[in-house]
Amino acid sequence: MKRVTEPELMDDAEQARAYHEADFSVAHGERVAIFRQMFPGLEPDGAVLDLGCGSGDVLLRFARAFPRARFTGVDGSQPMLDLAAGELRRHADLQRRVQLCRAILPSSELPQADWQLVMSHSLLHQLHQPQVLWRTIREAAPPGCKVFVADLRRPATAADAARIVAERSAGEPDVLQQDFFNSLCAAFEPAEVCAQLDAAGLAHLCVEPVGDIHLVVYGTMAGAGSGV
Ligand SMILES: C[S@@+](CC[C@H](N)C(=O)[O-])C[C@H]1O[C@@H](n2cnc3c(N)ncnc32)[C@H](O)[C@@H]1O
Repeated sequence: MKRVTEPELMDDAEQARAYHEADFSVAHGERVAIFRQMFPGLEPDGAVLDLGCGSGDVLLRFARAFPRARFTGVDGSQPMLDLAAGELRRHADLQRRVQLCRAILPSSELPQADWQLVMSHSLLHQLHQPQVLWRTIREAAPPGCKVFVADLRRPATAADAARIVAERSAGEPDVLQQDFFNSLCAAFEPAEVCAQLDAAGLAHLCVEPVGDIHLVVYGTMAGAGSGV
């Protein structure tokens, strides 16, 4: 099926809350384990940038998993960031190591740091122009920086997308089921992501399907020796 884009920013308060309250415990719960598979032995202990952090569920899972790292979550949606800030207030132990920042990508005002890891979860499919993400990574991530991007991948047909929604989110509110369907239809196929990386000069990053409906992009920014 052809890609069908959806609105980029999730800046409607009701939509943001529905997303925040959804049960992503399986998909998000596996994310740190997938990161560990892609980067065996790596325990981030420096600065980590999360692009499109939303209400912070994945961001805070990484912050808990890597207690020596410092995290900056960026999102363009104030309602999402407000929900993330609320979560942080409930977890005082993380407040010291996690900061949030509003920026709509592409942005010349991203926080600057010697990023050890630039990651992004479920942002790529939202972008009308996927090069926005790859250019942002290319500009922000120094040589040697690890890159980890995870997202949905687009099913072959709209009927497949509907079946996936029915199988996985039948108990969720309608608004969320519709969002999930739209996101599957807006996602990319692995071959499309490879072509995007090629065009961005990031062809050395790896693209891998994960499970039934996700893909990951991972690797090391060129210029500082090490491989994946
Ligand atoms: C599907 S949510 C994912 C949130 C979070 N990473 C997660 O996995 O739970 C995508 C997020 O990307 C944000 N977003 C979309 N386009 C953006 C842009 N151009 N600049 C900044 N944030 C953007 C949305 O506001 C939303 O919070």
